Amino acid sequence: MAMGSPITMMTAYDYPMAQLEDEAGIEIILVGDSLYMTVLGHGSTLPAKMDTMIEHAEAVRRGAPRAFVIGDMPYMSYQVSPQEAIYNAGRYMKEAGVDGVKLEGGRDVADIVKALTKATIPVMGHLGLTPQSVSQLGGFKAQGRTLDSAERVIEDARMLEESGAFAILLECIPAEVGQIISKRSKIPIISIGAGPYCHGQLMIVQDMLGLFSTVPKFVKRYGNLRDTIAEAFRKYKEDVETKTYPDLNTHCYKMDHQAYEDLV
Ligand code: KIV
Ligand code: NA
Repeated sequence: MAMGSPITMMTAYDYPMAQLEDEAGIEIILVGDSLYMTVLGHGSTLPAKMDTMIEHAEAVRRGAPRAFVIGDMPYMSYQVSPQEAIYNAGRYMKEAGVDGVKLEGGRDVADIVKALTKATIPVMGHLGLTPQSVSQLGGFKAQGRTLDSAERVIEDARMLEESGAFAILLECIPAEVGQIISKRSKIPIISIGAGPYCHGQLMIVQDMLGLFSTVPKFVKRYGNLRDTIAEAFRKYKEDVETKTYPDLNTHCYKMDHQAYEDLV
């Protein structure tokens, strides 16, 4: 990392992606509950389960020994009580060996952030478009565009910092609001659709690799894996159907000659 250059952060849900991200020097890897949408095909992140998230976090940890790995707290794994939040976040730390956890919300979760921090668990906050509140927000849409809404996000960020959060993720808010929060905070502010003035950037791995046909405005595509994979599948099917694959000389095992003579 060059001095003073923004922090790089990506999501990963499995071993091979984590390995590639770690080798590329990505500094923070989030095992996001976006897993439930990007990998498991749900329409929201609400069904996320602690056990499933931990299993994926373990795989990511194995693939990424260097990166700072963050476990995303599932819906209702931290809201019920500070005790439950500590228990669940503690499982992430002990069982998956993550370096910290992330949870959604501002003033409403300030006490939870405090309790986790006091229990030695580093917490990243998450404000703006918080997908676990999609029903309350009325859909996946940008937040902080009106004065009221912007003031609310700014105040929530201040409260999270005061409660001990080590960093805050801002999702889908105007660049101006991202800039104000980044200027005022002493902790790193990471952006996913919150503009260029934040201290770091996050992207969802499938979005940036071009695995989905539609992506949000803030995504920049660095690959077109959807077409690459589709072409590989099409070619494989064609090769099998035309008996081009497997090739006897290249892809097949051969018996010991004498053993074959004895066998037939
Ligand atoms: O689950 C996730 O990947 C996230 C990011 C989209 C912010 O929380
Ligand atoms: Na998430």
